[in-house]
Amino acid sequence: MNDILINKTNAFFQKAFHAVPEKIVLSPGRINIIGEHIDYNDGYVLPAAIDKIICFAFEKSNSNKSRIIAIDLDEEFEIDLDDAVQLNDRVWTNYIRGVIHQLKSNGFKFQGVNCVFSSNIPLGSGLSSSAALECGFLFGLNELFNLDIKPVDIGLLGQKAEHWVGINCGIMDQFSSVMGLENKVMKIDCRTLDFEYHDANFNDYSLILFDSNVKHSLFTSAYNKRREECEEGLAIIKKHFPETNSFRDCNVQQVLGLQNLMPEAVFKRCRFVVNEMSRVIQACEALDNGDIELLGQLMFETHEGLSKDYEVSCAELDLLVDLAKKEQYIIGSRLMGGGFGGCTINLVKKGHEEEMKSKFRALYFDAFGIELKSYDVKIGNGTSLYIQ
Ligand code: GLA
Repeated sequence: MNDILINKTNAFFQKAFHAVPEKIVLSPGRINIIGEHIDYNDGYVLPAAIDKIICFAFEKSNSNKSRIIAIDLDEEFEIDLDDAVQLNDRVWTNYIRGVIHQLKSNGFKFQGVNCVFSSNIPLGSGLSSSAALECGFLFGLNELFNLDIKPVDIGLLGQKAEHWVGINCGIMDQFSSVMGLENKVMKIDCRTLDFEYHDANFNDYSLILFDSNVKHSLFTSAYNKRREECEEGLAIIKKHFPETNSFRDCNVQQVLGLQNLMPEAVFKRCRFVVNEMSRVIQACEALDNGDIELLGQLMFETHEGLSKDYEVSCAELDLLVDLAKKEQYIIGSRLMGGGFGGCTINLVKKGHEEEMKSKFRALYFDAFGIELKSYDVKIGNGTSLYIQ
C-alpha cells in the first residue's frame, strides 16, 4: 500500500519541479493502547507508530523561498522563511509554518525547500496526521541541511510547532511518530522522556480501529480546557500535599479526600488522571504476561473514565464501546486519542475481524445514519528516510 503512495509522491514531485527528489521521507501516524490525556500530566503512555504514513519528497530550493504542495488537497503555498505567520484558512499550512518558526527561533540555519507530500493517514480520526506532518517535515529539513537534530528533539520541536498552531498537546503523538518501531509498543515516561519498547503481541486478538466519522469542531478549545482544569486541580493538591510535584506523586486517596475543595469538573478530571496512571502500569504488565483479557478489561475502564470523568467522549463513541462490551468476540474497546470523535481501538478475536466489522457497520448505521469505517492496525517504524 505504501509503495503506491511513495511512487505517486515521487512522480508528482518530478512533474512539478522537473527534478528527481533529493530526499524521500516517510512519517507515520500513531495508535495508543492505553494512557490517554496523561502525557501532559507527567504520566506513562503506551502508543505505537502505524503503517499509515505521510510521504514527502524534497529538494533544496537554493533560495529563501519554499513551495509546498499537498497532493491530496490539491493545494499549495509558498512561504518566505522569514515570514512564518499563521493563517486562519488552510490550517494544514500552519503546521509547516509552525515547524519553520520553531527551527528559526531555535537558531537553526537552513534554506527553502520544494516539497510535495501525500498521505494515507485518515484525517481527523485521532491517528495524529498533524504529528506526522510536523515530524516528517522537520526530519526532511534535518536531512537536507544537516541540522544534526536528534530524533527525540525532532519530536519536541514538532510538539512546539503544534502548540504554536494552538493545541497545547502533550508529547505522545510526535514522540510516537518519530521513535516507533515495527511490532513494538513504547512505554513512554512523559515526565523524563525515558522509554522502553515492549512486544506488541496480542495473542489471539487483532487490533481493529472503528472510525466513528465524527469530527468535533471545538476540539482545540475543549482539549486546552481539560489541560487547564488539570492544572487547577494540581495546584489544589499541591496546596494540601506540598511534597507533590506532579500527578505522578499523588494517589487516588489524596484526590478523593480533596473532593469538597475542588470544583466538580476539576475533581473528576483529577480522579481520571490518577486512575489512568495506574491503569497504564497494569496494562503494560498484562501485555508482557500475555494476559490480553486483563488488558482489554483495563481498556474498557479507561473508556468509562474518559466518558464520565474526563468528559471527552460523545454518543457515537459511547455506543461503539457499549456494543463492544456486549460482544463475545471483543474483549477490550475504548475511544483513542484526544476524543470528541475519531476512532475506538478494539481487541477483536482473530478469525472474527470481518464479521465484527460488518456487524458494527450495520448497527452503527442504524443508530446514527453514519458510515462506520474500520482499519486493521499494523505497527510500523518511526519517521525515516526512504532509500530507493
Ligand atoms: C492528542 C494530543 C496528545 C494526547 C492525546 C490524548 O492526541 O496530541 O498529546 O494528549 O490527545 O491522550
